[in-house]
Amino acid sequence: MAYQVGVIGGDGIGPEVVAEALKVVQAAGVGIDAVDYDLGGARYLRDGTVLPDDVLDEWRKLDALLLGAVGTPGVPPGVIERGLLLKMRFELDLYVNQRPFTWPADGIDMIVIRENTEGTYAGEGGFLRKGTPQEVATQGSVNTRMGVERCVRYAFELAASRPRRHLTLVHKTNVLTFAGDLWERTFNEVASEHPDVTTAYNHVDAACIYMVQKPAEYDVIVTDNLFGDILTDLAGAVSGGIGFASSGNLNPARTGPSMFEPVHGSAPDIAGTGTANPVAAILSAAMMLDHLGEAAAAGRIRTACADTGSLVGGTSEIGDLVKERVQ
Ligand code: IPM
Ligand code: MN
Repeated sequence: MAYQVGVIGGDGIGPEVVAEALKVVQAAGVGIDAVDYDLGGARYLRDGTVLPDDVLDEWRKLDALLLGAVGTPGVPPGVIERGLLLKMRFELDLYVNQRPFTWPADGIDMIVIRENTEGTYAGEGGFLRKGTPQEVATQGSVNTRMGVERCVRYAFELAASRPRRHLTLVHKTNVLTFAGDLWERTFNEVASEHPDVTTAYNHVDAACIYMVQKPAEYDVIVTDNLFGDILTDLAGAVSGGIGFASSGNLNPARTGPSMFEPVHGSAPDIAGTGTANPVAAILSAAMMLDHLGEAAAAGRIRTACADTGSLVGGTSEIGDLVKERVQ
């Protein structure tokens, strides 16, 4: 049996790193029927297509989605980000963005759980008197009890399953007194159901210091959409670099497919040079296999990627090396 996986290579280095990921998955012995979707900034510039509803309906029937990166110079900001990537996250209800960071040399083994459907990403806001000296722009943050709670619950269950059983809430409760209060109350309520999990709270600015100075102390972190976006770039930077950072956009309720993508972007400056690190995409594919129930193959891929930080080579050489190790 082969899994039906929608593959969106996207823009820039996206297609290059996704090709390596698929190569490794195949070598690990998991059957994938890849259905390719030509979407992203380049497609938009060609014919104006971003994400048609019938494509979205096709995706709902798939087992998973694998995405490289989207974003092309020349496309106005937001068109692809909001119209493709965020539309996927919102329409498929991918409410958890799980981003693991491991860098054994520095003792780092942490997972950031980023809320993925709400916050400032929800798109609340607008302009008044745009283009005039009296212009007003607002950008709200949407936080629902349901949205916060399901994400916090997921984080507690994940923390409970790990050896250290520790969960840190990251927010800015001293200033964001409405959203922060909802997050903190929800966190504390769910914590009372998990006496086995020890907890901590960090303001996001302080978390940026700790993430640099003592990242090994973190186990699981749960945070909102925008804080999670920023903190996971930083977490990537201290864990070998963003070229190793994988992610799963998860629908834990399994009402549809989940989507897996490297944390990095399309890096148009190095596209086509064969120098992009494919490990983030390969590890994202391993997360996909975990989600599909192929834990053994996923584990083999992770082991094969373990010391790739010391490897020298281009995109396909590193892909080949990892492939040889999983075979
Ligand atoms: C990420 C990216 C996206 C985000 C962009 C491309 C919309 O930065 O996945 O972290 O902000 O979520
Ligand atoms: Mn980001």
